[in-house]
Amino acid sequence: MTALVRDDAVVVPVSLGSRSYDIVIGRGTIATLGTRIAELRPGAKAFIVSDENVAAHAMAAAQAALKRAGVANSRLIVAPGEASKSYRVFEQVCEAILDAQIERGDLIVALGGGVIGDLAGFAAAVVRRGLDYVQVPTTLLAQVDSSVGGKTAIDSAHGKNLIGAFHQPILVVADTALLDTLPEREFRAGYAELVKYGLLGDAAFFSWLEAHWRDIFGAGSARNSAREHAVAVACRAKAAIVGRDERETGERALLNLGHTFGHALEAACGFSDRLLHGEAIAIGMVLAFEFSARRGLAAAGDPERVKRHFAAVGLPTGLSAIRGGLPGLDRIMELIAQDKKVKRGMLTFILVRAIGSAVIEAGVEEREVRAFLNEQLARQ
Ligand SMILES: NC(=O)c1ccc[n+]([C@@H]2O[C@H](COP(=O)([O-])OP(=O)(O)OC[C@H]3O[C@@H](n4cnc5c(N)ncnc54)[C@H](O)[C@@H]3O)[C@@H](O)[C@H]2O)c1
Ligand SMILES: [Zn+2]
Repeated sequence: MTALVRDDAVVVPVSLGSRSYDIVIGRGTIATLGTRIAELRPGAKAFIVSDENVAAHAMAAAQAALKRAGVANSRLIVAPGEASKSYRVFEQVCEAILDAQIERGDLIVALGGGVIGDLAGFAAAVVRRGLDYVQVPTTLLAQVDSSVGGKTAIDSAHGKNLIGAFHQPILVVADTALLDTLPEREFRAGYAELVKYGLLGDAAFFSWLEAHWRDIFGAGSARNSAREHAVAVACRAKAAIVGRDERETGERALLNLGHTFGHALEAACGFSDRLLHGEAIAIGMVLAFEFSARRGLAAAGDPERVKRHFAAVGLPTGLSAIRGGLPGLDRIMELIAQDKKVKRGMLTFILVRAIGSAVIEAGVEEREVRAFLNEQLARQ
């Protein structure tokens, strides 16, 4: 049984010299967690960090897999949600790891979505000056984005993800069956990050998503192979970019397509469930396309095509979709300036020449963004 699962898995390597690792993608791959860990770090103990929602569905399978392979393990389960990326919960995680007598040579398993990956990954980066860790992403967002690339962080009163470290995992096990229990709204929000890879660098993948999104969301047998394929394409794209620019000195910034507008909108909604991250960046990507078209960089038909796809899957496509209203233009510009350093009235934006071709544009004038957003707000 285990051997069969292993043969079926898609393995995407992340090439970073001595920090290289594999992303293992497939239905049921969590069953191989223990044997893979035992192969990578013979004799190591594991400490699992998870949240209450995820643990209810996936903890038993993770622990059983570790036990079968003889990997001793203990665990900590924290409350779900962004609030757990706090100093307080971070302290709890670090102390629990030390209580469990996890030594250098042992490892942390982050079993959950992006919140758990960021929190447990950051604890792994600093406890005993650095422990190995394994990502077991359980949301679509985490499988296609946050579990790969080594960014870890908690939040500060000054903003999200401001206290963190680059710390690569030694393995990512993305079991697509775990997505079956994910609430539909969370799944759809994660789908926006999947579309991002098509929009920023792979027009053929965007076309494939237009043709196959029903399979990805669906329940039939076509779903399994469609999900695996989509997660693998996204992970290959992210692995390639991270392999060339681990610390985001250049190209890795392309992964922020839609995120400048998106983060400002999330902040405007108080990072509440009025607007999930993926929903915010769906709107952000539409705005990036419209802004690029307004500048004459992209053709007018491109934003329309992007909007059509997001609308088809049920993602928001514009500011008017945000329930509860937005603050005024000045406040939104302030939030954009907080997210991006403004240098002499100039902003750096990820713009697009076409679907599948994003570019980093350092010379975007603040007043141009203001005029554009003013038009968008007027449309509401
Ligand atoms: N490190 C990075 O590169 C990176 C990239 C993007 C986002 N992030 C971070 O990721 C976080 C968002 O991640 P997320 O969207 O995965 O949110 P999340 O971890 O909060 O998960 C969303 C919700 O789904 C629940 N859940 C998770 N898996 C489930 C499952 N299989 N079944 C049922 N419920 C499940 C969680 O308990 C939670 O309530 C943010 O904090 C963001 O800053 C990090
Ligand atoms: Zn994102």
